[in-house]
Amino acid sequence: MDEIKIFAPATVANVACGYDVMGFAMKDIGDTMNIRKIASKKWVIENGRGCEGLPIKPTENVIGVAVEAMMQAYGKPIDHGFHFYTTKNIKPGSGLGSSASSASAAVFGVNRILGKPFSRKELVKFAMEGERAASGSAHADNVAPCLLGGFTLIRSYDPLDVIELQYPDMLYASVVHPQIEIKTSDSKKILKKDVPLKDAITQWGNVGGLVSGLAKPDYELIGRSLQDVIAEPARSKLIPYFKKAKEVAMQEGALGASISGSGPSIFALSFSRKIAESIAIAFNNVYASNGILANVYISQVNSKGTQVLE
Ligand code: HSE
Repeated sequence: MDEIKIFAPATVANVACGYDVMGFAMKDIGDTMNIRKIASKKWVIENGRGCEGLPIKPTENVIGVAVEAMMQAYGKPIDHGFHFYTTKNIKPGSGLGSSASSASAAVFGVNRILGKPFSRKELVKFAMEGERAASGSAHADNVAPCLLGGFTLIRSYDPLDVIELQYPDMLYASVVHPQIEIKTSDSKKILKKDVPLKDAITQWGNVGGLVSGLAKPDYELIGRSLQDVIAEPARSKLIPYFKKAKEVAMQEGALGASISGSGPSIFALSFSRKIAESIAIAFNNVYASNGILANVYISQVNSKGTQVLE
């Protein structure tokens, strides 16, 4: 195989209570990447639509960094290089896992071309290096659901232990992306390094509740557990009309709502498409009525993760 086209989905990381450990993949939004072998032994990165302003130097681009980490682990010399052409529907700085999608698509595609020396789970740690390059933090809560699909939990970073969670089919995400950019590195810097014990207790109770609510499924328990007392209080200040957006989502019947990843996107979960659509309309109204451009998405959970398109 000399050429491959990959789809890598957008992801919602943290899922309220699970800062840096929980995430899920979306079905109807994602990036595509064409990868082909080239004679010269290097990584050539070409920016397609939606990649404006992203670096093309392999040492500075998440694609080059993630693939380099993978080739180090592969350990065998190869007699060719790769050309990567990305078309982005996930805006960088949107909080929807844009860098994760690029890194995941690249390692997934190269792994296929090399004859699958690594499992999907093994690819997570290479894609994490892309996250380190993009934000200074090798978090896996976007790359794990992006590569594996579904809901994932990072039970441990050292050693890396990624758990694929059970979740109900009837679960919809409504997402609004107000058109402002928030860099993950900035959004991480505003968080306090220490968490009061009282907040830690609330947070891990909710993580357990969310995992259990998804598995049963118990929608009320999912709703009660979608609470974040660690990142949301600090980060919501960076997102215009966050409080209002969350309020209207709850009025429309959301199980819960919070910041998607490091923001500015906001997500809400619900158990019916009808409710998800009402939430999306309400989200849109909040921003339209305040003169802020925003994109809205409705999506079920993507169970497949990163896929070969052709
Ligand atoms: N868990 C990361 C954060 C996700 O919240 O900073 C970044 O998309």
